[in-house]
Amino acid sequence: MAIVLVGFMGSGKTSVGQVLAEELALPWIDLDEKFTEKFNMQISYFFEKFGEGVFREKEGQLLAKEIGKEVVLSTGGGVVICESNRKILKKSLRCVYLSTPFSVIVQRIKTDSCTIRPLATRLSQKNNSVKNLENLYQERTIWYEEVADLIVETEGKTPMDIAKEILLKLKKDKEVIN
Ligand code: S3P
Repeated sequence: MAIVLVGFMGSGKTSVGQVLAEELALPWIDLDEKFTEKFNMQISYFFEKFGEGVFREKEGQLLAKEIGKEVVLSTGGGVVICESNRKILKKSLRCVYLSTPFSVIVQRIKTDSCTIRPLATRLSQKNNSVKNLENLYQERTIWYEEVADLIVETEGKTPMDIAKEILLKLKKDKEVIN
């Protein structure tokens, strides 16, 4: 059972993906990590050197390559921006949107010192940074909902809670279909 996780930065795609993969005894693939490995470069540095447009093009190519595999795939928060990626995601049967309130996202991004997020950094350098990030969040929410087969609310839940909820819901869907 392949599962693709989408959602805004800080929604838990990485931590939930790892737990889900363990529960399903499937390999876990993180698209950002694949990107870093492939180009031997941190994403923030890639953004600086080549710009967001080139990043999106390469991200789309990687998505197309990884999506058909029998794995749990955690994507980057901006993967839904490109229409071609949204088409790919819609074709995948189990695309799960980790829906997290904006206020929680802001707190998580602030406290996560391990990940450099170029877009969050760029937006926080401008005046009225939270508003900018909120605009991005609202714009993308429509796309996450568009591609998702399943939407899971993550607020107040651990990665294990969320993984279990996803598995239960997918199991129920399968029973309905059978
Ligand atoms: C991005 C999110 C990042 C990463 C890149 C761009 C975005 O992934 O792909 O920095 O546009 O939201 P996470 O969602 O895992 O932070």
